[in-house]
Amino acid sequence: MSYNLLKGKRGLIFGALDENSIAWKTAERAHEEGATFVLTNAPVALRMGTIKTLAEKTNSEVIPADATNVEDLQDLIEKSQEILGGKLDFVLHSIGMSINVRKGKHYTDQNYNWTQKGLDVSALSFHKLMQTLYKKDAMNEWGSIVALTYMAAQRVFPDYNDMADNKAYLESVARSFGYFFGKDKKVRVNTISQSPTPTSAGQGVKGFTGFMNYAEKMSPLGNATALECADYTLTLFSDFTKKVTLQNLYHDGGFSNMGVSQEIVEAMED
Ligand code: NAI
Repeated sequence: MSYNLLKGKRGLIFGALDENSIAWKTAERAHEEGATFVLTNAPVALRMGTIKTLAEKTNSEVIPADATNVEDLQDLIEKSQEILGGKLDFVLHSIGMSINVRKGKHYTDQNYNWTQKGLDVSALSFHKLMQTLYKKDAMNEWGSIVALTYMAAQRVFPDYNDMADNKAYLESVARSFGYFFGKDKKVRVNTISQSPTPTSAGQGVKGFTGFMNYAEKMSPLGNATALECADYTLTLFSDFTKKVTLQNLYHDGGFSNMGVSQEIVEAMED
């Protein structure tokens, strides 16, 4: 169902790899809600992915950019404004990758070159993106910037590995940069802390199915899906959340405030 929530708004969406991606669902929903936007992803992901289908479906152009490369970001932000015909109203950072996770390197035995690469892709890229938007004065007043995160930034999930540290950094950058974006440009910056979701990045985490089923049983409303995450993200891009900023917002069916649920207690009884 469409509410025209983003009618006339222009945006930039990072991270749509395939139809399971949270960014993919967000792009589909943003299109339905009347937004126009540019899609972007790393050149290698564009070669592997099916983003063309999404671009056709949403009438949008695709510009390749490695989010760790400031020159790519500068070029992307300039071109996006040309294509869309003005400054941006919303930006979604939906990017995450850990080589240690991918290659099964344990948290206590990290390859630090991989750790640094993962930090650059998953967290520092958010600072690079915001610094480029800020310097280019590319955001409209009352615009909104959102990045996606996971609760392993606050609590221990052993198999989440160095991504936990990356997410802690990402959330801190949202607050620190959000201050300057708010003061100087009247732009809000938030992170959404999403339930485990079966996407390419999610399923890369060891023991993901167990992890997801546990969260499902712990959450009074059950896990939030990628589509529900897309809908929540759109509210943050809309004019109904103008004074929400510097927040880490849990979108997890209630998981983050649970101690234990009846289902888990019963499963633990002999
Ligand atoms: P996904 O695998 O579909 O998306 C990750 C994206 O990051 C891909 O499109 C990939 O191409 C992109 N990417 C990787 N390196 C890049 C680079 N150098 N430059 C530009 N883009 C690059 O997976 P998903 O789950 O949709 O991930 C989106 C966000 O949601 C990530 O930040 C992830 O950590 C976060 N998240 C995911 C959860 C899950 O369980 N799937 C739970 C909570 C947060």
